[in-house]
Amino acid sequence: MAILQVKGLTKEFGGLVAVDHLDLEINKGEILGLIGPNGAGKSTAFNVISGYFKPSAGKVFFKGEDITGLSIDKIASKGLVRTFQHTLLYSDLTVRENVLAGLHLHYKSGLFDALFGFRTAHKRTELERRATELMEVLGLATRSNERSGDLPHGYQRLLGMAIALSSNPDVIMLDEPVTGMNAEETASTMSMIRKMMQEMGTTVLLVEHNMKAVMGLCERIIVLNYGKKIAEGSPKEITQNIAVIEAYLGAKANAT
Ligand SMILES: Nc1ncnc2c1ncn2[C@@H]1O[C@H](COP(=O)(O)OP(=O)(O)OP(=O)(O)O)[C@@H](O)[C@H]1O
Ligand SMILES: [Mg+2]
Repeated sequence: MAILQVKGLTKEFGGLVAVDHLDLEINKGEILGLIGPNGAGKSTAFNVISGYFKPSAGKVFFKGEDITGLSIDKIASKGLVRTFQHTLLYSDLTVRENVLAGLHLHYKSGLFDALFGFRTAHKRTELERRATELMEVLGLATRSNERSGDLPHGYQRLLGMAIALSSNPDVIMLDEPVTGMNAEETASTMSMIRKMMQEMGTTVLLVEHNMKAVMGLCERIIVLNYGKKIAEGSPKEITQNIAVIEAYLGAKANAT
C-alpha cells in the first residue's frame, strides 16, 4: 500500500488554481520526482501536503490515515516532513547546534534547553549521538563546529535536510535540494540523498529543476503544468513525452 496518497488535491489563491485536482501516490522506500516549469504548483503542492497551507479541496492520506488539513507540526509528528526551497537555519548557531535544536524540537523540549542545558545526562548523550549520526550521513561531520551562516550554500541545504531528518521521518519532501549548486556539490548531494534512503530507510518526494539530479535519483516522475498533472512515468518515458516537452518549451518561450 502507498505510504502517502494524495487525491484530488486542489489549492486556489483568489482566482488562481495553483494545484488542480492532483492525484499522487508514493510507496515506502521509493523516490518520486515532482517536476514542472516555474509556477507549475510544485511548492504549493508541498505546502498543502505538509500542512503549511490548508487545501481548497482534496484529501491527503499518510500511512492510511486521513491527515488533510492537520497542522504542519501534527503532520511532522506523524512522520511526514518537508524542507523549504529557501533554507531556514539559525545562522548564528553552529551546524551541531542547529541539528541539536532540531532533535530537541522533536523530543519536545525548547531551544533554550537544547543550547544551555539538558534534563538528564542520558538524554544529552543520546541526542549528541543522534546529531553525530545525522551529520555523518549528510557529510557535515567535518563542519560541525562552523557557524551555519558561514557555510557554503550547498552545505546549508544539507543542514536543512539534517534538521528535517532529526525527527526520523518516514517520508521527507525535498524542495529543490540541488538548485543553484555546482556540478560537484550536486553529485555529492545526490549521493547523500541515496545514502539517507539506504541507511535511514526514508521515502523521498523530490521537487527539483536540475534534470540530471531528477533523472539520476528517481524511478518515477510526475510532471505538473499550471497546477495539473500532465504526465507520470519513468525518467525515460517522461523525457519522450510530447506534452512534457511542449510544457517546458512553452515555459521557455514565455520567459523570452
Ligand atoms: N501564497 C501564495 N499566494 C498567492 N499565490 C501563490 C502563493 N504561493 C504560490 N502562488 C502562486 O501559485 C502558483 C504556483 O506557485 P508555486 O510556488 O507552487 O510554483 P513552483 O512549481 O514551486 O515554481 P518554482 O519552480 O518557481 O519554485 C504560481 O502562480 C504562484 O504565483
Ligand atoms: Mg517552488
